[in-house]
Amino acid sequence: MAQTLPQHKYTILTILLFSFLLHGESHKFSRKLSPKSLGLKKQKLSHLHFYFQDIVGGDHPTALRVAQSSITNTSSTLFGLAVMIDDALTVGPERTSKIVGRAQGIYASADLNQAALMMVMNYVFLEGKYNGSTLSILGRNQVFLPVREMPIVGGSGLFRFARGYALAKTHFLNMSNGDATVEYNVYVQHY
Ligand SMILES: *[C@@H]1O[C@H](CO)[C@@H](O)[C@H](O)[C@H]1NC(C)=O
Ligand SMILES: *[C@@H]1O[C@H](CO)[C@@H](O)[C@H](O)[C@H]1NC(C)=O
Ligand SMILES: *[C@@H]1O[C@H](CO)[C@@H](O)[C@H](O)[C@H]1NC(C)=O
Repeated sequence: MAQTLPQHKYTILTILLFSFLLHGESHKFSRKLSPKSLGLKKQKLSHLHFYFQDIVGGDHPTALRVAQSSITNTSSTLFGLAVMIDDALTVGPERTSKIVGRAQGIYASADLNQAALMMVMNYVFLEGKYNGSTLSILGRNQVFLPVREMPIVGGSGLFRFARGYALAKTHFLNMSNGDATVEYNVYVQHY
């Protein structure tokens, strides 16, 4: 059948085929890149040290209850309580110490039997070359353990391609209003 087609029909088919291929080419979905082409040089390991100021009580709280479950108030672990935070990160343990960033996100009581929080938050840094760069934390925080480890799952700015872990240690806890100062040591690989 095809053998009987006149010559110009082949030409039209060829043009259609090429335009299809060219069209596909100009809308390529993925390609391989060298890290250099994005300005990525050597991978580095950084250690960050700061204090997380979780202010629950008083006139200017930075941690506010945003949701709870029907059993939160009767649960020994406050199961289902969700708290939205915009907590200062300071260079020293005092609240008045220099602010180097903020921890913004949510922690929620996610364990029916133990005091353990699910932490979903971004650190946004305000200091020097880190200004505007962020790290994202997603992890389990069993608050009464002396040291809790949470994964760093990513980052932006100076922390693109970040991964690592954060170690949290309670420095101060006011049992009467829930205010806490938590020391953080963060170990992060990035470019
Ligand atoms: C639980 O307690 C909080 C504050 O102590 C209150 O605002 C909330 O309405 C209570 N929730 C229930 C379901 O009783
Ligand atoms: C951080 O960047 C903001 C603007 O992006 C600027 O207003 C601020 O002064 C900077 N802070 C420091 C400590 O460099
Ligand atoms: C703990 O909280 C209570 C009341 O909420 C406050 O009166 C007290 O000063 C706080 N203690 C410290 C050491 O901050």
